[in-house]
Amino acid sequence: MILMKVKAEGLAHLSYIVGSNGKAAVIDPRRDCDIYLDIAQEHGLRITHILETHRNEDYVAGSRELASLTGASILHGDMPFGYGQTIYDGHEVDLGQAVLRALSTPGHTLESMSFVLYDRTSGPQPVGVFTGDALFVGDVGRTDLFGEDRIRELARLMFDSLHNKLLPLGDSVMIYPAHGSGSACGGNISDREESTIGLEKAKNKALRLISKEDFVAMKAREIMEKPHYFNRMEEMNLTGPPILGRVPRPPVLPPREIIRRSDDGATILDVRAPSSFAGGHFPGDPAELCRVGPGPRSAHRTCRRWAGRPGQHRQGPDQGRI
Ligand SMILES: [Fe+2]
Repeated sequence: MILMKVKAEGLAHLSYIVGSNGKAAVIDPRRDCDIYLDIAQEHGLRITHILETHRNEDYVAGSRELASLTGASILHGDMPFGYGQTIYDGHEVDLGQAVLRALSTPGHTLESMSFVLYDRTSGPQPVGVFTGDALFVGDVGRTDLFGEDRIRELARLMFDSLHNKLLPLGDSVMIYPAHGSGSACGGNISDREESTIGLEKAKNKALRLISKEDFVAMKAREIMEKPHYFNRMEEMNLTGPPILGRVPRPPVLPPREIIRRSDDGATILDVRAPSSFAGGHFPGDPAELCRVGPGPRSAHRTCRRWAGRPGQHRQGPDQGRI
């Protein structure tokens, strides 16, 4: 059995590929999904299943993209998705030695699913669980995505999912969350990416609130930024993102052409390292300049705030191509 993590830097998004006996499943794939094909090929696996822990809101899911390349089935929780099939609590994906069992864990979203990993050579106890945005290392998922009016309702669901579903899996069970430190989906996610249920029970402050009332009160006080682009991602991931076929390759342009297009209203994204940006960049209104890519969390937050605002992008042939 193989289990590998794929990290999308910048979004702190974690996806996984697990496989055995020639078959593999990918959990929460990113959209530029060649990496899963490479891993599968290297280990002699065929990707047969794509599992979504929930309707993600912070990136465009790569499920349809990967399915178009592999013919794999897309499975997710019960919601009016425009693609894929519904998997229900208790249903299993059989990969031979590895088995994934769906575990309904609402709270972050209503249809959120975790996937419990069993290794048939290790006996009947689970060895790991893909927790999506329910349980992170050091934190639990935000419960404010449906608006202030429903925070308490979702927080109650989250508490039940954590204490009645995930924690009883056993202290030795590894957790495989969908995000690491720097994500907008959790405020206190640890920069350590490995953990177990037992370690989280001991160290995760949100799990130490064993009274549901205290937990709900804590979540109701939690104020987290919801970047503008979240709503667009939610909609796109519900209906199904268009299939690109490959990662778009922007053309290389000389500085003069960059300036001309900028003057015409095109958006410039500076994706260099922070030190390069500090050393020199195109002059302009600071509010309209942002750097994207690996770097300090604040830079990503600033960028998200700006780049994701609907209506800020010019429509036309230059959009997104510089
Ligand atoms: Fe999420």
